[in-house]
Amino acid sequence: MSAGVRMLRLVPLDPTAFHDRYVLAETDEPELTLGELLADLPAFSLTPLDPAYLDVPVRRLVLELAEPDPSTPLHLPPGLDLTALAAAGSPRDGGPAAGTDAADNSAANPAAGAGSGPGSGIGSGIGADVDTHVSSTGRNTPLPGQGGDTAGRDADAAGPAAAAESGYPETLSEREAVLIAHDTEINRAAAYLESGLSVLVRCEKLLVEHLAHEIAGRSGRPQRTPRPAGGAATAVPGTPSGPGEATPLGGGRRAELLAALQAAVADAKPGDVVVVPHLDLLAGGSDAALTSEARELADVLYERSACVLLAFTDPSLVIPEVLANRFAVRLSIEILPREVTTGSGARVPVGRALVTREEAGLFDGFDAADLYKYVAGMNAVRLRNALRFAYHQHRPALREGDRRPTFADLRHELRVFKARTSSSFEVPNVPFSAIGGYAEVKAELARALTIIGGAVDLPAHLRHDLVPRGFIFHGPPGTGKTLFAKAVAARLAATILVVSGPEVTDMYVGESERKIRDLFAEARRNAPAVVVFDEFDSIAASRTGRGDGGSRAGNAIVAQLLTELDGFRPEVPVLIIGTTNRIDLIDDALLRPSRFRPIRIGLPDEDARREIVRVHAEHFGIPVGPALVDAIARATEGFNGDEIRSVFRDGRADELVGDPRRPADARRLGELIGALRAARQQRELAKSPPSDRRTEDAIRRDITDTLPIVTDGEEFTTDTDGNSRAGTSRATGTRPGRGESTAP
Ligand SMILES: Nc1ncnc2c1ncn2[C@@H]1O[C@H](COP(=O)(O)OP(=O)(O)OP(=O)(O)O)[C@@H](O)[C@H]1O
Ligand SMILES: [Mg+2]
Repeated sequence: MSAGVRMLRLVPLDPTAFHDRYVLAETDEPELTLGELLADLPAFSLTPLDPAYLDVPVRRLVLELAEPDPSTPLHLPPGLDLTALAAAGSPRDGGPAAGTDAADNSAANPAAGAGSGPGSGIGSGIGADVDTHVSSTGRNTPLPGQGGDTAGRDADAAGPAAAAESGYPETLSEREAVLIAHDTEINRAAAYLESGLSVLVRCEKLLVEHLAHEIAGRSGRPQRTPRPAGGAATAVPGTPSGPGEATPLGGGRRAELLAALQAAVADAKPGDVVVVPHLDLLAGGSDAALTSEARELADVLYERSACVLLAFTDPSLVIPEVLANRFAVRLSIEILPREVTTGSGARVPVGRALVTREEAGLFDGFDAADLYKYVAGMNAVRLRNALRFAYHQHRPALREGDRRPTFADLRHELRVFKARTSSSFEVPNVPFSAIGGYAEVKAELARALTIIGGAVDLPAHLRHDLVPRGFIFHGPPGTGKTLFAKAVAARLAATILVVSGPEVTDMYVGESERKIRDLFAEARRNAPAVVVFDEFDSIAASRTGRGDGGSRAGNAIVAQLLTELDGFRPEVPVLIIGTTNRIDLIDDALLRPSRFRPIRIGLPDEDARREIVRVHAEHFGIPVGPALVDAIARATEGFNGDEIRSVFRDGRADELVGDPRRPADARRLGELIGALRAARQQRELAKSPPSDRRTEDAIRRDITDTLPIVTDGEEFTTDTDGNSRAGTSRATGTRPGRGESTAP
């Protein structure tokens, strides 16, 4: 078995049982091998299965359960025979026209004329050299359950009639979903091919296997897919789900594919379409610079300019312009359309066409039109996965008679799905009410959020202009800038990614732009999404006036950021928030009103501090009366929100786990505030010349003499050492007597 490739795509006869056992094996049956699992729960494989896999514990494998359409060739795993399968039943999605072939153990469907199986993708290498076939696929993909052909699917008791009534399909395979969602683009691409123009399609790798032969097929031209001779069937560079996985091919493998492509181009008869499923990987997976790989590829592609090409690249990868120029037409299939056309010609929201009746019915108040803004940036395959995930999360509630799941639950589940399936996005849960003060900032953000969130109906032609691209929160440290960013994301029901600026720039030249591009590509997939660049100044520093070597990278990063911002689309909301303590360093181009709107988040004033005190007193469960709140707000002049929080956190910690334990009363809070002030004064003194320095005692005296506050009979002094000289506080058993030192 080839090293490193562990993803197997299987079609179980009983998908639910198979899935459950596979998932549970991780904990319940760590030793369960693939062979044992298949013996109990038979499954076909989409590619010939290497017998070596049978002895591998399933928890070490990535098994993807596939839903092929009836024309997909299926393979019998080694050791399984048809009689066992027949006894177990047949797969859901149409019978696999299986026939065992002693030689390669494959069960290719004789009717596989549409050539739609993943087996025809790059590097699957089932056959040698080039395979040629003409697609018989029609031009229009009727929606399942909407008057289309549902034969071969086990429409349940309600039947297609009910489905047509409700408008939702009964069942939907990934492939059907892709074809429905992108019918328009597929037809357009096919029309270009038909007129003899080469087409370059930008789309995520996940879609390539579904689109490639469909587009070529609809063009009505014979198609050729280069395949290397004798390649290991399982070593599919395949269909990585994210840009991170879209690594360049290994040298030997790449050379084989390139040779196969060269052969295909050379052999192509006039009018044939040569399909290149992963042009970006062949180009060396590198950037716009012309590598030797890209040069070789250019040679091959330009060798016969009359040859019609259909090639695919991933949005997160850039190919050299000279390669892109080989194609007369470039189109991108990146986001879901708001509406699709049904077989009968009606326009329906994508939330109706790509959601099954059962899924829609599970969530109370399901709103097909509203769904769009939570899924616009997903591709059809990911949307289907997300819905399946949400459905499985919530279906048990029905059985167990719990509260009926709602549309809000579905939206939450979609966010969770996005966050889980991406490497870094999270689901934030900071409400605006957790931020004390800053009423003006909140008001300004609220205005922007109603626009971004689509709460107001904007004229379509103005949407693009009115929706803000991003904010820069600037101000001193610890004032809640990151907190505000999270609250914004939570309000938008968006996922959030917090990246530290230096993380992006601490890289080789060229890597930073790639990182930015990847981030944006991932953000769009996770839309609505908020990307926070902490220490934004480190990546967005002015392009001029930086004499150091970093400026070269800096320039390129700002340029890439501008490109991404200018490519913004309102239907795929991605909001960028930069936070910085140094707004003066930010490149002016980014501060143009159409790009980032700067919002100052300064130190909290007394009113704001009062609210921050309330927020954290409540959070940490420390009761404080109004007079004490006032006193603390006054005594914390110059503090940021983070410092105020630390007073309550430390007070509460002492109460719970201190040694000795002390109540978090007015006196203790006063001590903590005093200690913070003293620490700050010391820091300031340390910065001043030694002659100005006073003794530590003098500082302490200064503080304790000037800040004793007594309120409500509660003593509140900002003493620094715990040896307070006056008054008592809430009497509790744990409190030490006056004069006993409790200083840390
Ligand atoms: N206005 C506020 N209301 C409530 N809590 C606050 C407020 N400001 C800050 N905090 C508290 O301080 C913590 C730190 O704030 P945050 O990380 O948002 O600061 P920041 O402005 O991003 O700082 P930096 O510039 O150092 O990144 C927050 O998690 C929160 O607990
Ligand atoms: Mg921060």
